[in-house]
Amino acid sequence: MDGRTTPAPAEYIAAYEKLGFGMFVHWGLYSLLGQGEWTMYSHGIPKQEYEQRAAKFTAARFDGRALAQLAKRAGMRYIVLTTRHHDGFSLYDTRGLSAYDAPHSAAKRDLVAEFAEGCRCEGIVPFFYHTTLDWHNELFASDFDAYLEYLYRSVEVLCTQYGKIGGLWFDGNWSKPDADWKLDALYGMIRKRQPEAVIVNNTGLDARGRIGHPEIDVVTFEQGRPAPIDRRGHAKYIAAEMCQTMNGHWGFGRHDFCYQPVGALLETLCACRGAGANYLLNIGPAGDGSVPKLQEATLETIGEWCGIFGEAIYETKPCGVRGTGKDFALRGPDGALYFFIHDLHNAGDSHVTAGPAGEGPRAFTGVAGKSVHRLRWLDSGETLPFAHDAENGLFTLYASASAYGHQYVVRVAKAELE
Ligand code: GLC
Repeated sequence: MDGRTTPAPAEYIAAYEKLGFGMFVHWGLYSLLGQGEWTMYSHGIPKQEYEQRAAKFTAARFDGRALAQLAKRAGMRYIVLTTRHHDGFSLYDTRGLSAYDAPHSAAKRDLVAEFAEGCRCEGIVPFFYHTTLDWHNELFASDFDAYLEYLYRSVEVLCTQYGKIGGLWFDGNWSKPDADWKLDALYGMIRKRQPEAVIVNNTGLDARGRIGHPEIDVVTFEQGRPAPIDRRGHAKYIAAEMCQTMNGHWGFGRHDFCYQPVGALLETLCACRGAGANYLLNIGPAGDGSVPKLQEATLETIGEWCGIFGEAIYETKPCGVRGTGKDFALRGPDGALYFFIHDLHNAGDSHVTAGPAGEGPRAFTGVAGKSVHRLRWLDSGETLPFAHDAENGLFTLYASASAYGHQYVVRVAKAELE
C-alpha cells in the first residue's frame, strides 16, 4: 500500500466538478471574418485594418439569456465566455482601461453584463475566459510591466462588476513561458474578490495536464483525452477539464465542414467523466452572435442523451472500477454504481440492422465491498442479470442490446447496493 494520502477537494472545487459539462463560447471581432479566432495573426491582418471591425460589430443577434437556455437544453451547467481573446478586443466595458471594447463598438453594450445576467436567470454558472497575451495592446511587447498592470485591472473589472462568477479561465501564458507574469498578485486579487471562483490557466496543446502555479484549481487537457489524476501526496486537490472544438476551430469557421458526430461527442463526454474531468465543449457563434444551426442541433441532441443518463454524469466520481475496452463505472453520492457500456448497437431484423448488436457479458474489476442487489438500464428500467464476486471485486453484467428504435452510443446501467 502507498502511504501517501489523497487530499480532499475544497468545497468550491468539489462544486466545480459537479458542474461536469460546460459550454465554451469563442466569440469576438474575429467571428465577423469567419476564419477562426487566430485570424488577425494567422492571416497577417494589420492592426489598423483589423480594428475597423469594431464599427461593424453590432452583436445584433447576441442574446445572453438564449445562450444560457441553449446550454441548459444541452445538459450543460456552466458557460465559459471569451471576454477578451488574443486580438485584445473586450466584450465587456473596460471602464476606461481601453476604448477597444464592446461599448465603443457598433454594439454599444456591455455584452458580458448581458451574458452574466442571462446565465443567472437560467441557473447556469458564468465563467470568464480572459487572454493573457495581447496582439493589440502595444505594451505587451514594449513594456511588459505596464501591460501586466493593464491585465490586472482588466481582470479586476471582471471580478467586481458582474456578481459572483464560477471562475476565471486564462489562456496565453504559453506565449512567454519564461516571463514573470506576476501571478501571485493576479491570483491573490481574484481570491480576495471572488473567493469561490476556480482559477484555470490553460497549459495549451503542448503541456496537457500540467500543474503550474500553486493557486491553480483546475488543470486543462486542451483537445485531448484526460487521464485520471493520481493525487496521492499532492498538497491540494486539483480538478481537471478537457476543452474541445466540435469542428476544427474555436472561433466561427465559415468554411469548416469537419464537424464531429454527436455519437463521438457523447463518447468523449463520458470518457472525460470517466477520468474525473469536466468536459467543456465549444461553440463559435457567427459575427452577429447567432449560433450556427448545426452547433445548436448538436448540443440539443446531446442534451436529450443527458436528459436520459444525466444522473450518471454530474454527481458521480471515478472509484477504481475498470471494465474492458472503453467500459468503466462511476460511483454516485449515495454509493450506487453506474456502468458505462460502449459499442452496444440496436438489435433488429437482419434486413434493417447491420452488424453485431454487441449484446453479451461485460466484465469489471474493482467492484469490492457491498453486494449489488439490483441492476437496471437507466433509460428503460429493464433489469439485467449479473454475477458479483464481492470478495475479489469481480462483477459481470449481461448487457442486452437496445431494440430497434434506440441507439444510445453509451448506455448506462445503475447498480444499487445492499
Ligand atoms: C488555444 C488558442 C485559443 C483558444 C484556446 C482554447 O490556446 O490559442 O485560440 O482560445 O486554445 O482552449
